[in-house]
Amino acid sequence: MWPYWWRRLPLVGVLVSVFLIFLASHGLVVALSVTLLILATYVVRHLWQLAQLDRWLRNPGGPAPSGVGEWGDVFYLLNKHLRSSRHGQDIATAGLEQMLQATRSLPDGVVILDKRDRIAWLNDAAERYLGLSRTRDIGQFIYYLLRNARFVEWLAMDDHGQSLRMRAPILPEVTLSLQLVRMSLDQRMLLAHDVTELERVDAMRRDFIANVSHELRTPVTVIAGFLETFDEMERPDPGALKKHFRLMREQSDRIRHLLDDLLVLAKLEGEQDMKNETVDVPGMVEVLAGEARSLSQGQHEIAVEIATRMKLIGSSQELRSAFGNLVSNAVRYTPAGGRITLRWRLAESGNAEFSVVDTGEGIDAKHIPRLTERFYRVDRGRSRASGGTGLGLAIVKHVLQRHQGKLKVDSAVGKGSTFTASLPADRVIPETVPDAEPAPRSAVA
Ligand SMILES: Nc1ncnc2c1ncn2[C@@H]1O[C@H](COP(=O)(O)OP(=O)(O)OP(=O)(O)O)[C@@H](O)[C@H]1O
Ligand SMILES: [Mg+2]
Repeated sequence: MWPYWWRRLPLVGVLVSVFLIFLASHGLVVALSVTLLILATYVVRHLWQLAQLDRWLRNPGGPAPSGVGEWGDVFYLLNKHLRSSRHGQDIATAGLEQMLQATRSLPDGVVILDKRDRIAWLNDAAERYLGLSRTRDIGQFIYYLLRNARFVEWLAMDDHGQSLRMRAPILPEVTLSLQLVRMSLDQRMLLAHDVTELERVDAMRRDFIANVSHELRTPVTVIAGFLETFDEMERPDPGALKKHFRLMREQSDRIRHLLDDLLVLAKLEGEQDMKNETVDVPGMVEVLAGEARSLSQGQHEIAVEIATRMKLIGSSQELRSAFGNLVSNAVRYTPAGGRITLRWRLAESGNAEFSVVDTGEGIDAKHIPRLTERFYRVDRGRSRASGGTGLGLAIVKHVLQRHQGKLKVDSAVGKGSTFTASLPADRVIPETVPDAEPAPRSAVA
């Protein structure tokens, strides 16, 4: 308050001095007139500055007007406050915009509903999953747009603890889990979360348990049947006993085979770390060919083509189990008289390839994409009869995945199949020492 009046003192001094000077020289009337004239000029200047202030305040975006004297201070201070509040506003708007952008691009669908369940706002995922549109549906009642009886009932229940699972309206392959969250007395938030993958894993788990139980039930029933028969026998016939014991052993071998495969799969899935040792694949192929010959018992022609002595970086045990399965499949699914070739070569891409080529029964194209599913068998009865559980190729797929490799299958019904395990170039250890024997080398059983 005081500084303001303090600064006005010169003006008061000037007015008093002018009044006194003119009073002394020209008398009272002239002194009053001159003083009033000065005062009138002062008032007109203020009115003009006020008009400028008024014009500026109506359009504060423009530059501040220039002020004379105390008006300069007024305009300066006002401009300073305006700029700082505008800066604060800009920060708040940017923060809000950022929040909106983040919510808009959330992977979950978000719809904000008012107290009458009209849509107040929705994000991109809500458009995608619920088939709503930000430009078209704001202000619409949501139950008119999502006309699903279960949804309407659930929405009316107003029980925020209970979620609802339903198919996405325009994406029937997607399952959504919906949840309601109360934001305020007038607003609720509807969240839509994609649980398709979760459902798939759940279904796989159920199938897996059903398959394992089914696979175990047959051999266990057979063994239990024989034991019951023995129990009822007064004087067991040694010949029949021997036959029954052989059959029981076959069934227990099946159970062991199944449990072994399950343990291998569980280990492959559970273990993060994998051994990275030098694997002598050419040596391994020779050993596998020997095993194939003993499994075949002379019924097939078994050839080995080793085009390179290159080795591989990986887990020797896992690769042996995977390659061994491809070889045993070829023997088991190729009728007597057929030819089986084990091939090890460097592909043009630089990848290493282990292939098993057979002239067996072949596989219809429709089965090929499903071969690596657990327990999947083209001919259930036939595979089971040969001791198969349908887990072999699932193991192969896992092993190759752990080595960043891939399984390729080429097959034609009645002509035969080629199963190729392709392993990436950066796992290859090129052959450095020239091979003593000419390559490709071929050996026939
Ligand atoms: N070389 C092949 N020729 C024809 N069919 C094959 C061949 N290899 C695999 N299959 C088919 O693919 C199915 C799945 O093979 P996979 O190795 O996973 O299981 P399996 O051999 O039946 O049992 P397991 O390997 O557990 O003993 C087989 O049941 C068979 O129908
Ligand atoms: Mg197999």
